[in-house]
Amino acid sequence: MKNKKARIAVLVSGGGTNLQAIIDAQKSGVIKSGEITLVISNKKDAYALIRAEEAGIKTALITRQDYGKKFEKRIIDVLKDNNTDLIVLAGFMVILSREFTETFKNRIINVHPSLIPSFCGEGFFGLRVHEAVLRKGVKVTGATVHFVNEIPDGGEIIEQKAVRVYPNDTPEKLQKRVMRQAEWIILPKAVEIISERIVNNGNL
Ligand code: GAR
Repeated sequence: MKNKKARIAVLVSGGGTNLQAIIDAQKSGVIKSGEITLVISNKKDAYALIRAEEAGIKTALITRQDYGKKFEKRIIDVLKDNNTDLIVLAGFMVILSREFTETFKNRIINVHPSLIPSFCGEGFFGLRVHEAVLRKGVKVTGATVHFVNEIPDGGEIIEQKAVRVYPNDTPEKLQKRVMRQAEWIILPKAVEIISERIVNNGNL
């Protein structure tokens, strides 16, 4: 695969600020070994879809309502049709089955808004993570990019960055700081690291 770029698919459910960070990093050259070729959303009204369209990236809408039991199968088929090399979960609020993670072993990465192994696993997503951080009273939190396997938030860690928690934080304030100071920096960095490995080694 020498001199080629890894074909990246980004899976989203919401606002898509992490998707935007990857799009911007591709434009600025931080990501040079990969190219976003597809964005898949499981939510019709996800603003991430508009961000993708504005960047001229192909989109697919695959919802549980439309596909029922064939929901994951449909995503797998669309990813394969796209010849996807790397799958990036960027605010994708779905826990993937073992069948899915085995189909793309070592080819799926996720950004999680805490320092794994704290505040992670089933039930910890979005604002809930930051609510739990504030309830516990920890003084440092952060974000993690990791490989995705059958254990929620359980795969090998690729990048982490710590962020300070302040006494007057609300979950919303903390979420924004974690995004700005950690997620939007380490996700593009991890995407480049793994894309580069795929391009140079073929297999990880
Ligand atoms: C981000 O904070 C991301 O880390 C989190 O959801 C937010 C999505 O924001 N993901 C999870 O909690 C997954 N367990 P975005 O749509 O603006 O990128």
